Amino acid sequence: MEHSFWHSKWQKNEIGFHEPQGNALLVKYADTLLDPPQNQRIFVPLCGKTKDIGWLLSQGVEVVGAELSEVAIKQLFEELGVTPKIDITTKGATYSTHALTIFVGDIFKLDADDIGPVTGVYDRAALVALPEDLRAMYAAHLNKITKSAKQLIVSFEYDQSAMAGPPFSVNEETVDALYSANYEIKRLERSELVGRLKGKVDAENLVFLLAAKS
Ligand SMILES: C[S@@+](CC[C@H](N)C(=O)[O-])C[C@H]1O[C@@H](n2cnc3c(N)ncnc32)[C@H](O)[C@@H]1O
Repeated sequence: MEHSFWHSKWQKNEIGFHEPQGNALLVKYADTLLDPPQNQRIFVPLCGKTKDIGWLLSQGVEVVGAELSEVAIKQLFEELGVTPKIDITTKGATYSTHALTIFVGDIFKLDADDIGPVTGVYDRAALVALPEDLRAMYAAHLNKITKSAKQLIVSFEYDQSAMAGPPFSVNEETVDALYSANYEIKRLERSELVGRLKGKVDAENLVFLLAAKS
C-alpha cells in the first residue's frame, strides 16, 4: 500500500483493524514471547495505537514501536495518559517516555542502531497489512534490524479471492517461505475468527512463534 493509503485511513478514523480491548491471542501466548518474563524489550512493527502496547507495558516490558502515522501515535500517548518527549530526526520523529519509544515514519528507514537491542518482536496486523510484493523485503528487514529476535506473529488465513486486503491472507506456507531460512517456526494456534473478517468472510486466526536458528 502507498503511505498515503494509511495516512488517509488515520485521518478519516477508518481504523477497523484497531482492537479496543487489545488482542486476546497476545495475552494467551505472551509467555512464549516473554521468556524469561524479566528484562524484555519488545519491538512492535506497524504498531498503530494498539492497546497491546499498554498491556505489554503493564507486564513490565519495555516497548519499541514503528508507525507511519503521527495521528495514531498522538492518540496512543493520549490514551496511555502520558506526555511523550518528541524528537525530530532525519527519519521522522521519535516519541518516547521511559519504557516506550515509538519511531514515527517508514519502518524501512530504520536500522538496528535506531531501535537498539530487542528481545522479541510482536507482529499483529503488520505482516498481513503488507501486499505480497513487500512481504519478503519486510521479513528480511525485520530479521536484520532485530538481529533475528524471536517473533510472535498473529495472522489471518482466508480465501483471498473473497475479499481484497488489507488485511491480506497470510497462511502457514507464506510464513514458512518468508522466515524458515532464519527461524524455526512453530504454529501455536489455528482457530475460527469469531465474527468473521470484517463481518463478511470466513477466516481463521493463526499464531506463530519464530525462534532464530542457531
Ligand atoms: C493494519 S494496521 C495495524 C496496526 C496495529 N498493529 C494493530 O494491531 O492495531 C497497519 C499499520 O501499519 C502502519 N504502516 C503501514 N506501512 C508502514 C510503514 N512502511 N512503516 C511504518 N508503519 C506503517 C499503518 O499506518 C497502520 O497503522
